[in-house]
Amino acid sequence: MAVLKIIEYPDPRLRIKAQPVTAVTAEHRLLADNMLETMYAAPGIGLAATQVDRHIRLLVLDVSETRDQPWCFINPEILSREGSDICEEGCLSVPGVNEPVERAARIRVRALDRDGKSFELDAEGLLAVCIQHEMDHLEGKLFVDYLSELKRSRLKKRAAKARRKDSVESSRHQPEAVR
Ligand code: NI
Repeated sequence: MAVLKIIEYPDPRLRIKAQPVTAVTAEHRLLADNMLETMYAAPGIGLAATQVDRHIRLLVLDVSETRDQPWCFINPEILSREGSDICEEGCLSVPGVNEPVERAARIRVRALDRDGKSFELDAEGLLAVCIQHEMDHLEGKLFVDYLSELKRSRLKKRAAKARRKDSVESSRHQPEAVR
């Protein structure tokens, strides 16, 4: 297994709409396993394929305290939604930012598991939030899109500043030949 690189806001690749998986193969299972390893290492509770620059409808998550209940959703669809709840969210592609977002409180989801078998699930609480957040990634949507214009422009400035700092540091640490 391997830890994959997570792309970060405002990278335009986060805006690509993911394509459905036509047949679940060993390659998808390997991607799911690598995404889980990446998510646990980050650490995070969910990761969409979009975030590792693979634009297919696949996501993984684990909202358990014990970090031993991995889920893989392929071609997920929300069958029904009920109520609404506001929950503080963060995202591995938008490091250092936590903001309240309103979403459906309870959802029913249908998806394929890592073996390509169809299943349905009723979710509420953190699980429901996480599924909706990750499904947004597959549409090229980020949780920061729900924030006000003002908050978002502040985040963009902050991200640009962090990137400038990163590139100065990495150029400093790299030998001349590979720069
Ligand atoms: Ni996210």
